[in-house]
Amino acid sequence: MSLQKDARRITATDIAGRKGGDKIVSLTAYHAHTAGIVDRYCDFILVGDSLGMVMHGLETTVPVTLDMMILQGRAVMRGSRQALVVVDMPFGSYEESREQAFRNAARVLKETGAGAIKLEGGAHMADTVAFLTRRGVPVMGHVGLTPQAVNTMGGFRVQGHSAEGQDQLAADAHAMADAGAFAIVLEGIVEPIARAITGAIAAPTIGIGASPACDGQILVLEDMLGLNERVPKFVKKFGSLREHIEAAVAGYAGEVRAGTFPGPEQVYQPRKG
Ligand code: KIV
Repeated sequence: MSLQKDARRITATDIAGRKGGDKIVSLTAYHAHTAGIVDRYCDFILVGDSLGMVMHGLETTVPVTLDMMILQGRAVMRGSRQALVVVDMPFGSYEESREQAFRNAARVLKETGAGAIKLEGGAHMADTVAFLTRRGVPVMGHVGLTPQAVNTMGGFRVQGHSAEGQDQLAADAHAMADAGAFAIVLEGIVEPIARAITGAIAAPTIGIGASPACDGQILVLEDMLGLNERVPKFVKKFGSLREHIEAAVAGYAGEVRAGTFPGPEQVYQPRKG
């Protein structure tokens, strides 16, 4: 008897090894069914804390909790088979100390089965990233526009316009890579700086609003599917799901009101005899 083995999941080490090679493809997913659809096309799936805004209608990601991330992380693991699953550490779950970060990151890995975590922040988080990676937690960094810092950044602003800002971005990306981050998300960064950082650091860069110069790209799935009416400039709508869903819902409502749904095909009749 031969046993059909599941395809091996992509690991954080595999992603690290893709620096300068084939482009790394990633999308967010929060549910088992969407994870199941994107799995075969993506190198990694991010269970982003953007779920607070996309799923729950929050204004920012700040209120998202560790339990919310763990619940959706489990769903995405159940729905996927081959992509690396990365779970975002939410605001307040890792910044206080490296011990707090390890305790909560260990919970995420144990309770979801995901292969890595992501945390926001630059040079000031490097000590924590080194602490985690030395203890078996693969960490993806996230620098530039860091949504969890919305209250100190004064809004969601593109980064790298000033010379001072450019130096800080380079220092942040270098510090994350040197601390052992296996990849770094560059969000909302002007093109020449994203290009320079990508050329200068050993870790692959994953761009979102950071130009094609990055080693890979990520988008929020619901944004690129056209589910949200308003999206940032860097999003290209690859689908128009909002219109499709609305047409389907309108069709359903119309048929229920007209009495044509359910039709004979959807009705159970007693067994004959
Ligand atoms: O939370 C998220 O979805 C993210 C991506 C936008 C990179 O961090």
